[in-house]
Amino acid sequence: MTSAKGLEGIVVAQTHISHVFGEEGRLVYRGYEIGELAGKASYEEVAFLLWNGHLPTRAELDALNAKMRPLRKLPDNGYALKALTQGVNPMDALRTEVSLVAALAQMKGTATVEQAMLLTALFPTVVATFQRLRSGQEPIAPRDDLGHAANYLYMLTGEVPPENHVHSLDTYLVLLADHSMNASTFTARVIASTESDIGSAVVGAIGALKGPLHGGAPALVMDMLEQIGSAENVKPWIDNALSNHKKLMGFGHRVYKTTDPRAEILREMARQASTPEFFALAHDTEQYAIAELNRRKPDQRLYTNVEFYSAAVLNSVGLPRDLYPTTFAVSRVAGWTAHVLEQMVGNRLIRPQSEYVGPQGLKFTPIDQRSLASVS
Ligand code: COA
Repeated sequence: MTSAKGLEGIVVAQTHISHVFGEEGRLVYRGYEIGELAGKASYEEVAFLLWNGHLPTRAELDALNAKMRPLRKLPDNGYALKALTQGVNPMDALRTEVSLVAALAQMKGTATVEQAMLLTALFPTVVATFQRLRSGQEPIAPRDDLGHAANYLYMLTGEVPPENHVHSLDTYLVLLADHSMNASTFTARVIASTESDIGSAVVGAIGALKGPLHGGAPALVMDMLEQIGSAENVKPWIDNALSNHKKLMGFGHRVYKTTDPRAEILREMARQASTPEFFALAHDTEQYAIAELNRRKPDQRLYTNVEFYSAAVLNSVGLPRDLYPTTFAVSRVAGWTAHVLEQMVGNRLIRPQSEYVGPQGLKFTPIDQRSLASVS
């Protein structure tokens, strides 16, 4: 028995929810190409689609909003978050508060769409409340008369956001809502497969999303662009990074072997939303990075991934850099919960095997007779 490092190429589930066609640079949600939905459907419509398998009718969307909007209030009024403000990573704060919310809701048994709605409704409130508290400001209560994206921005600033910001954030949330068997979704499905609760599955998924190889990259993209700083520094900076075997954030993907289709959409959004100087720097960096990555590692086929222009789009709507991963989670929770619901249908415990490469046949030595040589 041999192992596939990183489970590359291993199919671990059948799903109706989404698929990445990596060679073609396509992403499909429930039969819809991502370009069919982005900029046209709202995040709430896409969450409904992921959970239920079809886009909602007007009546179904109204019913979803009537159920979900009152669920936005934190059951503990952010009390627990107050203890987490000093220097705490926002993803840790989100993970902790979601765990508390799930415990208070006494989530157990087979996951339901209602539980998926509760978790999805609460994520923006958790992030915004944390942001307010750590900035020494009073949290702002959610508003029932605003959509998901608008309410998130409203709770951060206390002002009804401009329409272009709402549209940008809503489109971003649609683009990142699901992505087949990515690491955090797989984590959620593994937890769900043990017949644990949906809250635990989502808490585990937040932990998986936190890492820079998954959802933690866009803040690092901004750091990179800041360090590059000017057009003339693009080439030396990238050459130096690659010569020192560093990874360029926002490039490469396990499944896409061409540009991520979400990056194509986000690039155009970034072009509209950023200053011309910033966009030119990002675009020059992208062009040179792709050329150089493919010159140095032609077999890898490394292209722009979703995180590269996510950074510019989230920056343009005024989000602080360290809230980019939590905003990714605000989106992806719809996908995680959809996958947990799907896992519950005909569930079987996910329990792969490992390839044992350690020693065998060792004999027990009493502790006082052990030397480093005898235990190594
Ligand atoms: N910059 C430089 N080299 C890269 C690279 C990048 N962004 N992404 C992959 N590579 C190189 C690796 O160094 C490795 O080269 P080697 O075989 O010469 O050692 C090869 O390509 C394979 O990389 P690996 O990390 O094994 O691929 P993966 O499929 O496991 O990883 C990512 C996919 C996304 C984790 C990886 O491309 C990456 O780390 N990208 C940067 C972080 C990022 O943008 N994350 C957001 C993902 S949406």
